[in-house]
Amino acid sequence: MKEIIIQILKKSGITLKDSEIEKLIEVPPSSDFGDYSFPCFILSKKEKKSPDKIAEHLTEKIKLPGEIEKVESKGPYLNFFVNKKILAEQIIKINSNFGKSPIGKNKKIVIDFSAPNIGKPMHIGHIRSTILGDSLMRIYSFLGYDSIGVNYLGDIGLHIGKLIVAYELWLDKDALKKNPVQELLRLYVKFCAKEKSKLTEGVEEEFQDNEWTNRAKEKLKLLELGDKNTEKIWHDIRKSSEKGFNKVYEMLNVDFNETVGQSEFSEHGKKIVTNALLKNIARSEKDGAVYVEIDRQKKFILRSNQTASYITYDIGAAVERYKKYNFEKMIYVTDFRQKDHFDKLFKILKLFGYDFSDKLVHLPFGTIRFGKEIIATRTGDIILLEDVLKKTIEKAEKEIRKRKTKGDAEKVGVGAVKYVVLKSSPSADVQFSWEQALNFEGDSGPYIQYSYARASSIIKKAGKFNKSKIKILNLTPAENNLVKKISMFPEIVINSEQSLNPGLIANYSFELAQIFNEFYHTCPVIGDKSEAFRLLLVDAFRTTIKNSLYLLGIEVAEEM
Ligand code: ARG
Repeated sequence: MKEIIIQILKKSGITLKDSEIEKLIEVPPSSDFGDYSFPCFILSKKEKKSPDKIAEHLTEKIKLPGEIEKVESKGPYLNFFVNKKILAEQIIKINSNFGKSPIGKNKKIVIDFSAPNIGKPMHIGHIRSTILGDSLMRIYSFLGYDSIGVNYLGDIGLHIGKLIVAYELWLDKDALKKNPVQELLRLYVKFCAKEKSKLTEGVEEEFQDNEWTNRAKEKLKLLELGDKNTEKIWHDIRKSSEKGFNKVYEMLNVDFNETVGQSEFSEHGKKIVTNALLKNIARSEKDGAVYVEIDRQKKFILRSNQTASYITYDIGAAVERYKKYNFEKMIYVTDFRQKDHFDKLFKILKLFGYDFSDKLVHLPFGTIRFGKEIIATRTGDIILLEDVLKKTIEKAEKEIRKRKTKGDAEKVGVGAVKYVVLKSSPSADVQFSWEQALNFEGDSGPYIQYSYARASSIIKKAGKFNKSKIKILNLTPAENNLVKKISMFPEIVINSEQSLNPGLIANYSFELAQIFNEFYHTCPVIGDKSEAFRLLLVDAFRTTIKNSLYLLGIEVAEEM
């Protein structure tokens, strides 16, 4: 519909580009002002006339196609009223491709997301990266892009040194077999107690100088030198850890095209740094540490003992990925605390002559807070992803039993968590509460899943019906609203891609479900004289909500 309006405006002789017109078109707050409106302020500057006059003048000039019923000027606005019957005819014909688009054809998008650290369990920060990254992957693919998901495992760094020390001293082999995540966590916690450090990750930990930290640094050095025994332990830790991660990915139904350890890019990164040294773009300190000057500050890119650090690996990884994928864009999805890291990374790459750095984007996200409802974790210190999921599924099961319905607790629980995480824009902090996440009557995943199941049961009850003899009578307000909301879906998908915000789709899904429920309560379907049309409308709603939830990674159920 927007497309049609753009064409109408173009034909009326206004001198703006399609994309400019598109950005200006608004959806008015009330349908009294039409379905779409176009503000004439910009034209007023160009033509040196009042915007009101321009709007009025345009209404006289504009020729309307069948899809638009009328156009009115109201002050500086031009309001378009869509012909609802024609729109309804289009909407009841949609199929499972509804909202898809070829705009991404032949374009590659790489998304670096999840990226947990080996040896540590995934904490709640990784949940947001995983869920957000997965949703973006789905949105890009839906729009025709070739999207490539990369899981960049933190398989090297001081935490690995610590684990190796602990593994040699205290490992319980059987426990590692039975529950690798738990055993590795036990080892890590024990080490931290000895070291008297906090379990939470932080860069500063590298600079701690005590007996235990130093032992960990030694192990790390041994690993870099290729010591066989140390390498064997590292492999074992990595394998056990991945087992634990995969369990979570299975629960969340998340896949990657590539899972790769950070450590693989040590040599690539170092080579690039050496080259930069030769070209005098990077400099050496007396102690051997290498830095570049970024924003008049030294940023170290190689340690004094010539080992790589977090940024060295990222330099190597970015260059290798660009060689491999020749991407249109690469998005890194991490906590906002890494903003500075990526800011510097992009600038360093540019400084080194890699122009593709303009194609790199960091998508920072805020914190997830649990308020008073802190769940007891095995560490007391960090909230583990697996615990949150398990607890949500448990609570979903209770809720389902209480309501005596048929829901699948896993689908409901996982969907509820994903919905809470995605609903807010990435930059916002998320306040997590189980009460809200599992509120079947409120702004929640289960509410939307439930509306889908409700629609499915209507379709099932109706059985076979004659689709060819549809006569659309005058639409009721509830039908009108539903038709109009469904018609907006393709635009919402594109907006959420452009703003890297699946929250737009999440909020749209909720509003769509609400509008459907209003329709459900005011418009009887089976047995009504509009039965055939309404059944098709219910089916169009099902398709749209299913696609929306799919883009959020939330599964639907036919019965609930
Ligand atoms: N492993 C890091 C963490 O857990 C995130 C890595 C993000 N990706 C990257 N290319 N640096 O905080």
